[in-house]
Amino acid sequence: MNLKILFFCLFLAVILIPAEMKRHKHKKHRHSDRHDHDPHEISSPKHGKHAKKRERFDDIMNDPFLGILGDSLDDDDDDDDDPSEWLFDLQEPAGHCNPNPCQNNGVCKEKRQKKFKCDCPKPFKGRRCEKGPKFCKKGLCGRGECVLTSTAPFYECKCKHPFQPPNCRTYSVCEPNPCKNGGQCVKDGNDFDCVCPPGFNGRFCHVGPNDCYEDDGESYRGTVSETIDGDECLYWNSHFILEKGTDPFNSFEDSDGLGPHNFCRNPDGDLTPWCFFRRGRKLLWNYCDVNDCSEGTIHGIAPSAIPAPPASPAPLEPALPAPPEPALPAPPEPALPIPPKPAPPKPATPAPTQKPVEPPQPSDASPTPTSFLKTFSTCGKPQPKKVITRIFGGLKVPPGALPWQVSLQVRPKRSTRLFKHICGGVLIESCWVLTAGHCVERGYDMQVIMGGLSLDTDEPTEQIFNVEEAIVHENYRETPVSVHNDIALLRLEGDDGVCANETQFVKAACLPEGPLSDGEECTISGWGATEESEYGSNHLLEANVLLINQEKCSEDKIYGSTLDNGMFCAGHLQGGVDSCQGDSGGPLTCEHGNTHVVYGLVSWGDQCGKKNKPGVYSRVTHFLDWIKSKTQGSS
Ligand code: ARG
Repeated sequence: MNLKILFFCLFLAVILIPAEMKRHKHKKHRHSDRHDHDPHEISSPKHGKHAKKRERFDDIMNDPFLGILGDSLDDDDDDDDDPSEWLFDLQEPAGHCNPNPCQNNGVCKEKRQKKFKCDCPKPFKGRRCEKGPKFCKKGLCGRGECVLTSTAPFYECKCKHPFQPPNCRTYSVCEPNPCKNGGQCVKDGNDFDCVCPPGFNGRFCHVGPNDCYEDDGESYRGTVSETIDGDECLYWNSHFILEKGTDPFNSFEDSDGLGPHNFCRNPDGDLTPWCFFRRGRKLLWNYCDVNDCSEGTIHGIAPSAIPAPPASPAPLEPALPAPPEPALPAPPEPALPIPPKPAPPKPATPAPTQKPVEPPQPSDASPTPTSFLKTFSTCGKPQPKKVITRIFGGLKVPPGALPWQVSLQVRPKRSTRLFKHICGGVLIESCWVLTAGHCVERGYDMQVIMGGLSLDTDEPTEQIFNVEEAIVHENYRETPVSVHNDIALLRLEGDDGVCANETQFVKAACLPEGPLSDGEECTISGWGATEESEYGSNHLLEANVLLINQEKCSEDKIYGSTLDNGMFCAGHLQGGVDSCQGDSGGPLTCEHGNTHVVYGLVSWGDQCGKKNKPGVYSRVTHFLDWIKSKTQGSS
């Protein structure tokens, strides 16, 4: 790490995040601002009727992921040389099964001599059940998606139409008729369209007239299988989802409507039904094109999108051998760690500076004792988490799961410009936010937003405050290779010591009492850069990291003598999951007995997600006296 990286972080955050927002600014979907998103900018703004993208024959043929080059579960070259092995040797106090080293629902059994054994559910194998089935091998499903099944042969090919089962290598356009519910299949070269009977829609006329969701769609059991941008949903049992580290069946605990299908669902308390989809090798998700029952409108493919039937009747096509696979280069591997949760950019928030309009949510907020108005009644208690949906290294954060996460935003002093996100922060008391020292910029007005997940949407759960005073640690120091005492306190503007109101979505994190143990699993979060978007994510993401032993992290090949006692490393030495530019100042929290304690603040790192270059965090325990001296006595 050198100073350039640090400045680069701030440069990216201040300059590029706003630029990115501007780029998205004019897009709007029908449902709500929240849906105003396209991670790859391929769809045009939608006004009224859906100008919907849909996968055509040529797209399928040109998709390098499908066919010979793609669709492999794992290459066969996996070995047992796990660079995180040392961590398991450091876990004595908690036992070798805590945290559970067994993946894929493996059951851990303690053994003598620092050993453990994983009982792996079929068909997983390996010391930690990390080796998945190799059923979905390269090219097995030709032009189709390989899904995992629980019975032999443990996979099934779901062909992309017009490619045909069993192996999706031959294609036949309208024979058999892929259109459901009496839809008419109209040939269009190698492609087809379904002309649906009135009331039916969807690419295969498979969506019935009463297909709609109530409330947030948790109870939705309809058959829409396309996103609002026209991407085809992946099957929930797609090996592609499982390969990326998400196991929907295990992650979603309730009877949530998931199954071996690709219909949109809302198992995790999101806003509306959603689904995973794929772009190249990237696993993404988006909201679905499902009707809201209360709106009473019919979504789906607009009639105008269906080409008129050809003048002469289209001859029925025999099953043809598929054209030869195009020799396409493999897509580049993702470079950075945390992928985005596709989330909507919004026209930048007007800069409200007032106290929240929302009254505190009574639901689970315990009453604040009036004699201690400046202190929250609790700390470190998030909303109970329904699910964790893992997308690459990053996780989609459900509402209320990280209620102490703050977005720190700036604009030039006394200007009327829009505030821009530059850093994260952690709410520790009603009027106090912890952040990184390097996030405090002189010459800027600062505000913090808490209680929201999306940076570019005005969410009713949000609370916004001006920063009245920023106190940077007196010994804050930047060197060409690192940042020392990278911590600051932000005092928020409030009335009589009350600033943030404690709600379901806004709560303080607890300050630590004792030291950390190496190898512990903790959570980092933020809106910073991801492998998908160097400009940052619009939706709050979280990831799990392991606390790395200080001596280990001070080895020459890692950070050498750069680390001091006010810093610690966390991440995965093999690379991958990490915080990144724009996450600085945000929390690293660890859960102790159902309470979330802030142990670290995102500070610096040599790039992001690089092997042997984990994230470096300001060690909150080291600064406890400093924090107390600044916060006590003033409100
Ligand atoms: N300096 C960055 C920021 O200001 C944080 C970088 C964290 N880097 C890492 N590899 N964990 O947002």
